Amino acid sequence: MAQTKKKIVFSGMRPTGALHLGNYVGALRNWVKLQETHRCFFGIVPWHALSSEYLNPKVIKDFTFEVALDWLAAGLDPQKSVLLIQSEVKEHAELHLLLSMITPLPWLERVPTFKEQQQEIQDKDLNTYGFLGYPMLQTADIILYKAEVVPVGEDQAFHIELAREVVRRFNRFYGEVFPEPQILLTEVPKLAGTDGRKMSKSYGNAIYLKDSPEDIRKKISPMVTDTRRKRRTDPGEPDDCPVFTLHKAFVPEAKRQELAAGCRTASIGCLECKKVVIEALITEFETFRQKRTYYEQHPDEVWTIFNEGSALAREVARKTMEEVRQVMGLDFPTGRR
Ligand code: TRP
Ligand code: SF4
Repeated sequence: MAQTKKKIVFSGMRPTGALHLGNYVGALRNWVKLQETHRCFFGIVPWHALSSEYLNPKVIKDFTFEVALDWLAAGLDPQKSVLLIQSEVKEHAELHLLLSMITPLPWLERVPTFKEQQQEIQDKDLNTYGFLGYPMLQTADIILYKAEVVPVGEDQAFHIELAREVVRRFNRFYGEVFPEPQILLTEVPKLAGTDGRKMSKSYGNAIYLKDSPEDIRKKISPMVTDTRRKRRTDPGEPDDCPVFTLHKAFVPEAKRQELAAGCRTASIGCLECKKVVIEALITEFETFRQKRTYYEQHPDEVWTIFNEGSALAREVARKTMEEVRQVMGLDFPTGRR
């Protein structure tokens, strides 16, 4: 059988600490599957975190470790994918700088997240050169490995579109070096947190992958459900129930249909319904918790995996940058290594 070459994938995550269920269904769960069919590079991206955390940079290393634990425990596999730390591959910075030379300022100023984040995040001054350049650093991450596919959620679509425009511009100026990366839009199911709002670390309402069975029970049991179900005999509507957003992500279709029908006819109670998703979560993350505990107790193994991944990434990155310097005429005779 003719072997078709595996497409190259890059995706990244900012190190903001332990991952919650929203991060899992919105990214990690899909990445674990992609490893089987694509040549994957997955990066933890400290420099992106720095663009907003520059006043408190010392948390980034610990946060990186937390993300690394979650990745490995969830099944990202260094035998299948290249697992790297962006700031340990300095070529990301060099390419970012070169891209910054050719990127028109208005392209960056009209990125919706730029103004939005500045307005939303009041306690940080995000009116910086680095923060404006965030999407260019992201572009560098992707194209450094000549990635063709970028699995991300809708919130990142504009950034990938911008990456494509910059790639076209680079190729037009200097020659066809980079493929135009394609977005692989990840369906991101909206998960409610324990207070019914969108699950988010900053709201303090998140259920974490590393949460113990007790944590999971304690967090979900008191959650508000569809307000129509004041009494056990009042029928409800699962589509208006925050808890049911968790069912949609973690309870198999058949069982879910049964529960939805039971809710609409008031033949089951919320307690019983919650119990199903609680048990589903406890089971789904059982081996996860075991693996995470193992890696937590063997930090050297974790760092070694990311050290070796970053070294592999550096090999690819070095080749790309040699090509980039050559087409731009920056391949100085003094630069031979
Ligand atoms: N900006 C992305 C986010 O906030 C993280 C990221 C950095 C990324 N570099 C990337 C995603 C490259 C995809 C590809 O989620
Ligand atoms: Fe929500 Fe389930 Fe209660 Fe219906 S029965 S309101 S879906 S928790």
